[in-house]
Amino acid sequence: MRCRAHIFSVVPLVVCSLVMAGRAKPPRSEPPNKKPKQSAQSHKYVRPTDPSLYVGTEACKTCHEELYNAFATSPHLVTTIDSKLDARKGPEWHGCEACHGPGKEHVEGGGDKTKIFAFKDVSPAESSARCLDCHQSSHEQSNYGRSAHLQSGVSCTDCHSPHHAKDTQSLLQESSPKLCYSCHLDVKAQFVRPFHHRVNEGLMQCNDCHNPHGGFERHQLRTVAGQDEVCYKCHADKQGPFVYQHEAKIEGCEACHTPHGSTNQRMLVQNQVNLLCISCHSTGGNGAPPTPSFHNQANEYQACTLCHTAIHGSNSSNVFFTP
Ligand code: HEC
Ligand code: HEC
Ligand code: HEC
Ligand code: HEC
Ligand code: HEC
Ligand code: HEC
Ligand code: HEC
Ligand code: HEC
Ligand code: HEC
Ligand code: HEC
Repeated sequence: MRCRAHIFSVVPLVVCSLVMAGRAKPPRSEPPNKKPKQSAQSHKYVRPTDPSLYVGTEACKTCHEELYNAFATSPHLVTTIDSKLDARKGPEWHGCEACHGPGKEHVEGGGDKTKIFAFKDVSPAESSARCLDCHQSSHEQSNYGRSAHLQSGVSCTDCHSPHHAKDTQSLLQESSPKLCYSCHLDVKAQFVRPFHHRVNEGLMQCNDCHNPHGGFERHQLRTVAGQDEVCYKCHADKQGPFVYQHEAKIEGCEACHTPHGSTNQRMLVQNQVNLLCISCHSTGGNGAPPTPSFHNQANEYQACTLCHTAIHGSNSSNVFFTP
C-alpha cells in the first residue's frame, strides 16, 4: 500500500482513496519474461564437519585445472586462507568444498558426478543457502530471505557466477543493467523514454535506488538516513526542512514523478502540469484545498508552476511562490 498520507490525516480512508483515484498510476508491470524455478521454503545448509570427508582445493586442481586457475584470481580465494576466516576454520569453509561440499567420494569415484553438489536441479532456496551461510551476516545480503527475488524463485546464481562471471567486479552473470533487463523487460522500456534517469548511460545504477538482495521497503527500495525516500540521497534540496512543506510529498515523490522514465518533462506522471495539480486540488475533500475560483483555466493560470515555483516546499511562501 503506497498511501502513507493516512498517518497524518483526520479522515484516513477518504484521503487515501481520493488521492489514489485522482492520480494516473503507471501501468502495473508485466511479469518478467524469464520464469525461474519455484522457490522452496527457506533452507539451511548444514555443513558436514568430519574433516576426513574433505580433500582440499589442491586435490580438485588435478582434474579441474582451468576452474582452479580462475578461482585463484577470484575473491573467493581468501576462503583458502585460514587466518582470514576467523570463526570458519574447518575444511568445510575452505575453497571449492566450501560451496560444493565434501569432495572425497567424488574424487575417489574418479569424478563421480552424483557424489558432488553442483548447484543444478535444486531449489533456489537450497542453492542460495550455500552462499548465505557466509554472506548472510553482510548488511547488503541479510534480507535475501524476504526478498521479492528469492520469493519468486530467483537464486544468487541467477545473478552471480563464481566461475564464469562476465562482470568480475561483483562476479555478475552479466553487468547491470543488462542483467536486470534480461528479466525486467517492462523496466527496460521505461528507461528508454525521452525523460529518464541516466542508468543506460552509466551515470547511475539500479542499485542506487534498489537493493537487489531485498530489504524492508516496498519494491526493494533503499532508504537514506532516517528511513526517508531514497530520492533524497541525490536530491537533498527537495527534502527541506521547509517552513512550508507541500504535503503532497507525504505520499512520496512518485505521487508526481515516474522514477524510471517518462514521456513527460521532469518525469511527471501527467503531461500537463495543471491536470496533475488538479488531480488533488479539485474538491478539497482530500486535504488539498481546491484551486481558487479566480484561477481561470482557459488562460494564464494553466501553467501552475510558473507562479507556484517552489513546488517541493518553501521557507517564505505558504503557497510556494518563492523558495
Ligand atoms: C579424478 C579427477 C577429479 C577430481 C580430483 C575432481 N573432479 Fe570434479 N569432476 C571430474 C569429472 C570427470 C567430472 C565430470 C565432468 C563431466 O562429465 O562433465 C567432474 C565434475 C565435477 C562437477 C560437476 C558435477 C555435475 O553434476 O555437473 C563438480 C561441481 C566438481 N566436479 C567439483 C569438484 C571438486 C569441488 C573437486 C575437489 C574436491 C573435484 N571436482 C575433484 C573429475 C574430478
Ligand atoms: C563461491 C562458491 C563456489 C566456489 C568457491 C567454487 N564453485 Fe564451482 N560452482 C559454483 C556454482 C554456483 C556453479 C554452477 C555454475 C555457475 O553458476 O557458475 C559451479 C560449477 C562448478 C562446476 C561445473 C562446471 C562448470 O564449469 O560450471 C565444476 C566442475 C566446479 N564448479 C568445480 C569447482 C572447483 C574445482 C572449485 C575450486 C577450484 C570450485 N568449483 C569452487 C560455485 C562455486
Ligand atoms: C565459505 C564462505 C563463502 C561461501 C560459501 C560463499 N562466499 Fe562469496 N565470498 C566469501 C568471501 C570471504 C568473499 C570475499 C569478501 C570480501 O572481499 O570482502 C566473498 C566474495 C563474494 C562476492 C563479492 C565479489 C566482489 O568483487 O566483491 C560475491 C558476489 C560472492 N562472494 C558471491 C557468492 C555466491 C553467489 C556464493 C554461492 C554460490 C558465495 N559467494 C559463497 C565467502 C563465501
Ligand atoms: C537480482 C540479482 C541479484 C541476486 C539474486 C543476488 N545478487 Fe548479489 N549483487 C547483485 C548486483 C547487481 C551486485 C553489484 C552491486 C554493486 O555493484 O554495488 C551484487 C553484489 C553482491 C556482492 C558484493 C558486494 C556487496 O554489495 O555486498 C555480494 C557479496 C553478493 N552480491 C552476494 C550475493 C548473494 C550471497 C546472493 C544470494 C543470497 C546474491 N548476491 C543475490 C545482484 C544480485
Ligand atoms: C531513481 C531511482 C530508481 C532507479 C535508478 C531504478 N528504480 Fe526501479 N523503482 C524506483 C521506484 C521509486 C519504484 C517504485 C515506483 C512506484 O511506486 O510507482 C521502482 C519500482 C521498480 C520495480 C517494481 C515496479 C515495476 O515497475 O515493475 C522494478 C521491478 C524495478 N523498479 C526495477 C528496476 C531496475 C531493473 C532498474 C535499473 C534498470 C531500476 N529499477 C532503477 C526507483 C528506481
Ligand atoms: C532471473 C530473473 C531476474 C533477474 C536477472 C533480475 N530480476 Fe528482479 N525480479 C525478478 C522476479 C521474478 C521478481 C518478482 C516479480 C516482480 O515483482 O516483478 C523480481 C522483482 C524485482 C523487484 C521488486 C519488484 C516489486 O514490485 O517488489 C525489483 C526492485 C527488482 N526485481 C530489481 C532487479 C534488479 C535491480 C535487477 C538487476 C540487478 C534484477 N531485478 C534482476 C526476476 C529477476
Ligand atoms: C543516485 C542519484 C539519484 C537518485 C537516488 C535519484 N536521482 Fe533523480 N536525478 C539524478 C540526476 C543526476 C538527475 C539529473 C541529470 C540527468 O538527467 O541524469 C536527476 C533528475 C531527476 C529529475 C528531473 C528530470 C528532468 O527532466 O529534469 C526528477 C524529477 C528526479 N530526478 C526525480 C527523482 C526521484 C523521484 C527519485 C527517487 C525515486 C530520484 N530522482 C532519485 C540523480 C538521482
Ligand atoms: C506535487 C507534485 C510533486 C511532488 C510530490 C514532487 N515533485 Fe518534483 N516536481 C514537480 C513539478 C511540477 C516539477 C516541475 C517544476 C517546473 O515545471 O519547474 C518538479 C520538478 C522536479 C525536479 C527537476 C527540477 C528541479 O527543481 O530540480 C526534480 C529533481 C524533482 N522534481 C524531484 C523530486 C523529488 C526528489 C521528489 C520527492 C521528494 C519530488 N520531486 C516530489 C512536482 C512534484
Ligand atoms: C498528491 C496530491 C497533490 C498534488 C498532485 C498536488 N498537491 Fe498541492 N497540496 C496537496 C496537499 C495535501 C496540500 C496541503 C494542504 C494543507 O496543508 O492544508 C497541498 C498544498 C498546496 C498549496 C498550499 C495551499 C495552502 O493554502 O496551504 C499549494 C499552493 C499547492 N498545493 C499547489 C499545488 C500545485 C501547483 C500542484 C501541481 C504542481 C500541486 N499542488 C499538486 C496535495 C497535492
Ligand atoms: C498567475 C499566477 C498563478 C498561476 C499560474 C496559478 N496560481 Fe494558484 N495561486 C495564485 C495566487 C495569487 C494565489 C493566492 C495566494 C494567496 O492567497 O496568498 C494562489 C493560490 C493557490 C492555491 C491555494 C488556495 C488556498 O485556498 O489556499 C492553490 C491550491 C492553487 N493556487 C493552485 C493552483 C493550481 C492547481 C494552478 C494551476 C492549475 C495554479 N494555482 C496556477 C497564483 C497562481
